[in-house]
Amino acid sequence: MRRMVAETRLHPADFILPAFVRDGVSEPVPIAAMPGVVQHTRDSLRKAAVEALEAGVSGIMLFGVPDDADKDAQGTAGTDPDGILQVALRDVRSEVGDDLIVMSDLCLDEFTDHGHCGVLDTEGRVDNDATLERYAEMAQVQADAGAHVVGPSGMMDGQIGVVRDALDQMGREDVSILAYTVKYSSAFYGPFREAVGSSLQGDRKTYQQDPANVREAMRELALDLEEGADMVMVKPAGPYLDVLARVADAVDVPVAAYQISGEYSMIEAAAEKGWIDRDKAILEALTGIKRAGAQNILTYWATEVARTLGRQ
Ligand code: PBG
Repeated sequence: MRRMVAETRLHPADFILPAFVRDGVSEPVPIAAMPGVVQHTRDSLRKAAVEALEAGVSGIMLFGVPDDADKDAQGTAGTDPDGILQVALRDVRSEVGDDLIVMSDLCLDEFTDHGHCGVLDTEGRVDNDATLERYAEMAQVQADAGAHVVGPSGMMDGQIGVVRDALDQMGREDVSILAYTVKYSSAFYGPFREAVGSSLQGDRKTYQQDPANVREAMRELALDLEEGADMVMVKPAGPYLDVLARVADAVDVPVAAYQISGEYSMIEAAAEKGWIDRDKAILEALTGIKRAGAQNILTYWATEVARTLGRQ
């Protein structure tokens, strides 16, 4: 009876798998702060993409982890056609074609030596407009490499409009934009910084949102839609379900939520200590995110959960 009357159901197609691929490694590198998640080699990424597809997951979001020696102040490796993210996009597309939606993180923090999401001005502050130029180039390079969807995640003002124009100019109206619209400056990103080997100096408070505020989230949302966002995202997910519900009520585009690294690691860590029923906690956390209004959920458990659901 409960099954019959359940108001919220998880489905494999709800999920998008975020995945890391690291340049120059011959074995996957475990991420200590995210037990069960690795920095993939090019080969193991291909396999992970096929596994996700076979489990019924609908998309994969790729993050590139360059060699430390290739990081610089401009994040040059992020726009190099042979940079790790571009190479990985081509690899994955050749493996999955159009059966799995291939997305790319469009941000500089993985590629800059200072770890910020943009380039810096002479005072060491993130330079919004100079960063937009880098994002335009990144969008084009990622589209060329095979991204179906680009995900601008750097929270620069005007980034969606600039990325849309850059894609249209090269005749790629077909490439969609998943806008990281509501992105809070969150302590829960901690494990991710290890995942991408980021050595962030300072913090992101000047461009990510204050956890105390929701009004500015609605303003960011209106701007992103006006600038051409095809889908919008709220991130992190769990601590911001109220924001997610408001966003979902306010728009008529698909809404995604990103269950981020810290949300993942908390459950894994508590489970490891025997303090929580891991599998139930995962499904409950994801059900809560969907109930709040997310149509799609980015989660590091995407493949595992899709498999479980497939068996039910
Ligand atoms: C920025 C980006 C971040 C995450 C996704 N894209 C890190 C940040 O803003 O500090 C975090 C994802 C996670 O924590 O799982 N490129």
